[in-house]
This record gives sequence, C-alpha cells and structure tokens, in this order.
Amino acid sequence: MTKKNLIVGQSGGPTAVINSSLYGVVSEGIAHSDEIGEVYGMVNGIEGFLEDRILNFREALPGEQLDYLKHTPGAYLGSCRYKLPESLEDPVYPLLFEKFEEMNIGWFFYIGGNDSMDTVSKLSRYAAQTGSSIRVIGEPKTIDNDLEGIDVSFGFQSAIDVATDYIDKLQSTAKSHGRVFVVEVMGHKTGWLTLHAGIASNSDIILIPEIPYDINAVVKDIEEKEKRGKKYIIIAAAEGIISKEESLLTKKELKKKRKEGGNLIAAERLAREFEPYVDKEIRTASIGHIQRGGNPCAYDRVLATRLGVMAGELIENKKYGYMATFVDNKISSVPLSDVAGKT
Ligand code: F6P
Repeated sequence: MTKKNLIVGQSGGPTAVINSSLYGVVSEGIAHSDEIGEVYGMVNGIEGFLEDRILNFREALPGEQLDYLKHTPGAYLGSCRYKLPESLEDPVYPLLFEKFEEMNIGWFFYIGGNDSMDTVSKLSRYAAQTGSSIRVIGEPKTIDNDLEGIDVSFGFQSAIDVATDYIDKLQSTAKSHGRVFVVEVMGHKTGWLTLHAGIASNSDIILIPEIPYDINAVVKDIEEKEKRGKKYIIIAAAEGIISKEESLLTKKELKKKRKEGGNLIAAERLAREFEPYVDKEIRTASIGHIQRGGNPCAYDRVLATRLGVMAGELIENKKYGYMATFVDNKISSVPLSDVAGKT
C-alpha cells in the first residue's frame, strides 16, 4: 500500500516562534518516513492550497537546511486570513477534500490562532461526516493568548518581551519631557498582551478591550498620579479598546462613528479624548507588527517543543480531533470541539 503524505500550513498573524512549530511537524514527518510518504507545505495556508500553491519540504529545505526553521521568526510558508464557511454543505469542503485525496494526504496540520482552530474543527467535522480517513490536527499559536482551553499559547511570551522592551525604551523620553505617552499594544479582542506588558513595564494606566474605559476615570487617574508627584505618565492601551459610550453602540453604529472620526488608531483616539483636560504634552506610539517578529524567547521555545511532543503523541495514539494544550502548568490535550472558534 502506498504511504500517505502529510501536509502542513500556517495561518493568521505570525509569531516569533511559528516556524519552530513548523520545524517540529516537518522534521517528525520526515523522521517517520517508514509510515509517512512526502511532507508538503501549503503556501499561504488554505487560501494558497485552493490555488494549488504547495511545496515539498524534501526539495525546498533538504537535509540540514530544515534546521534554519528552528530559529527563524515569521511564517516560512506564508500566511492567510481565510475563514471557512459555517455550513459544511458549502462546495469548498468537497473541493478541499478532493485536493487532499489527489495528493494522497493522510494528515493535515494547521498552525494558527483562533480562526485557524476553527478551520481545523470544521475540517475534522467534515472528515467525520463523510467518513474520510484524513486526520486534521491543530497547533495553537497566537501572540494574543486568546485561545479557549489553553493557559498560555506559544508566541505570547515573546510578544510580551517585545512590547515591554518597547515601553521601557519610551520611559526616558517620557520622563525627560514630562509627557503623557499612549502606547498601543496589539490585541483586538483581548488584553492579555497589553496587561502583561503594561505590568512588566510599570505602565501607569492599562486599558484593555474587555473593560470599556471611562475617559473621566482616565483623566482623574492622571491627575491623581500627578498629585502624588508622578512627572510623566505611560498609558498602555490595547488596539481593541472601546469607551463606555461606544460599548453601547451596535457594530454598525460603532463602525460609522469610527469612520466619521477618521478611522484613527486606538492610541490617537484616546489621546484626543483626554487632551483638553490634561496640561501636559501628549505623544502616541503604536508598537505594531514587530510584536510578532524577532527571535522567540526561551520560554516559547520550550513551550512550543512540549506542545509539539504532545501533538506527536496524539497521532501515535490515534487520538484525533484534539488540540495539544497547556493548563495548570501541565501539557495535556482537549477536544477541538470544546475550544475551536471560542475566545
Ligand atoms: O496576531 C494577532 C494580531 O496580532 C491581533 O492582535 C491584531 O489585531 C491582528 O493580529 C492584526 O493583524 P494584521 O494587521 O496582520 O491583520
């Protein structure tokens, strides 16, 4: 019987450590050549796969060249933001599985965050529904740490380090000029990254999407800190922050309001709101996409390796439809149906 092939893809925003996890999957696939045939990569995730953009790892990164992946930040395979339709009746599902069959795929690994785990869950369900023998496995990575069922996702700690370092380096300017700095940290729906970097960098005020802010409270807090002798203020604000008033609006109303306001980034919006009440120079800064780059920190390297080993064990034990996870300081696994698509 011909050996089945393995295919792997990366999706969503990259992290510093996303290639290490790719290395884990590919190197294990190649090492198990007694059971696994070719090891393919999807270029730009599911989106690229639908356009037949694939590569063969044995040709693309032969021998020791594969090792470069271990310490290279960024998504080697390129990424995509492609959400599969809710209905499993959609023609994209049979199309994808036809392509898998054509390539004699036995295992499909998808490395990504929330939306990618949603893809994994939908494809697993479709496989079960149609009796396909293709196994779909999710590898949870996100700098946002916003995945259900896992305490810390890999990529998160490296991003905290970048954001903390960035804020640390602003302190001297803020202090020298006695300014208020609003620093925007990534995190559209969740504030984990802002909260951790904010605490680590000793930011004065931390604003996160989960708690709509009251601009009067922000002003009052700045004033109180000044009264206590603080000469400069650092506000760490997540990109997804909303005010109390905005939290009462519908999505459509909020979009309209933001558009009318010139679609400013969160830091700018916030600064404009408190500017009339604060007697200090105000500056804004957005850390941006560097939070997803650079070398992964040691913690992430270890965590990614541990989760990779668990993913390998899941396959060895033929335990499919699960995500490798890290809860209460222990590596374990959780059914994908419990976590996929949830924040
Ligand atoms: O990787 C996740 C994330 O960093 C979110 O925090 C952010 O909202 C989003 O990606 C921005 O990504 P992009 O600008 O690449 O679409």
